[in-house]
Amino acid sequence: MNVLSLFDGMSCGRIALDKAGIKVDKYYASEIDKYAIQVAKANYPDTIHLGDVQKIQAKGGELIVPFNGEFYHTDSIDLLIGGSPCQDLSIASANRIGLQGERSGLFFEYVRLLKELKPIYFLLENVRMSKECELIITEMLGVEPVAINSNLVSAHNRHRLYWTNIPFTVPTDKGIILTDILEDGVVDRDKSHCIDANYFKGGNLKSYFEKHRRQLVFTDHTYTEYRKLTPLECERLQTVPEGYTNHVSNTQRYRMLGNGWTVDVVSHIFKYIQEFGDQTFTKSFHDEEMFDHDFNDIAIMHENVS
Ligand SMILES: C[S@@+](CC[C@H](N)C(=O)[O-])C[C@H]1O[C@@H](n2cnc3c(N)ncnc32)[C@H](O)[C@@H]1O
Repeated sequence: MNVLSLFDGMSCGRIALDKAGIKVDKYYASEIDKYAIQVAKANYPDTIHLGDVQKIQAKGGELIVPFNGEFYHTDSIDLLIGGSPCQDLSIASANRIGLQGERSGLFFEYVRLLKELKPIYFLLENVRMSKECELIITEMLGVEPVAINSNLVSAHNRHRLYWTNIPFTVPTDKGIILTDILEDGVVDRDKSHCIDANYFKGGNLKSYFEKHRRQLVFTDHTYTEYRKLTPLECERLQTVPEGYTNHVSNTQRYRMLGNGWTVDVVSHIFKYIQEFGDQTFTKSFHDEEMFDHDFNDIAIMHENVS
């Protein structure tokens, strides 16, 4: 299948497709972070990078792909995926400004391309957010989100919402605990606190024990000497192949792992594409069900949300 991955990061979507056993013909990626692109290219040299999502164009249901600076060709897209930037949305952020934020508003680029390309399948991932923002996204995509904590498939507490037309059931608990993925040391809990893009800054005893943030690993059960999780341990928490990010500095590895998808959650969802393959392919979005929404009404809702 042909895939368009918006906000591709380090291509966790591609890893998830591989893990789900789905054959990818062309994988188009939109990303602007040079380090994430570097890691994606190192692991998947055949990815076609398109840069800034705002510059991507589509016409007649097909993606317009620049070629040699002057010419272009078009391609249909079977699967559109993405996890738009969430800094303005997260309930963990005190100053969230919602979908009007410069970064999180990029979600509307996802909607634009979904509407223009009409892929057979789509998947949007995002953080837990205000009910108003969640409702707008749900209205625009025409499907309810499914909340999944990554801790079902890894030792990582990571609550995320998934909007998709792929029919799937939530994964069962694999029972993986933090000590299973440590290189050394001990911990006082079974599941890690969520790692985010700022995890590279590290935590301290006060923030860890009082605010329950930035996972620490201890030398022994006195819980006094500590270290951060290593990049390898973060890869394991995100169920990314070991060494996948080992092409950039540790700071950049932490940043992209904190931004990335828990691969095994997404690959779990993608496996249902295979399972329901032919059946779902006929139930395509070309029936226009989704595109019956009055986008003007939704745009007004968007303007009213802060
Ligand atoms: C939440 S992260 C997504 C990470 C990705 N799902 C992964 O698994 O690695 C959001 C990504 O959007 C990218 N981004 C921000 N602005 C963008 C833009 N205008 N066009 C394309 N990507 C953008 C960021 O660099 C960041 O990597």
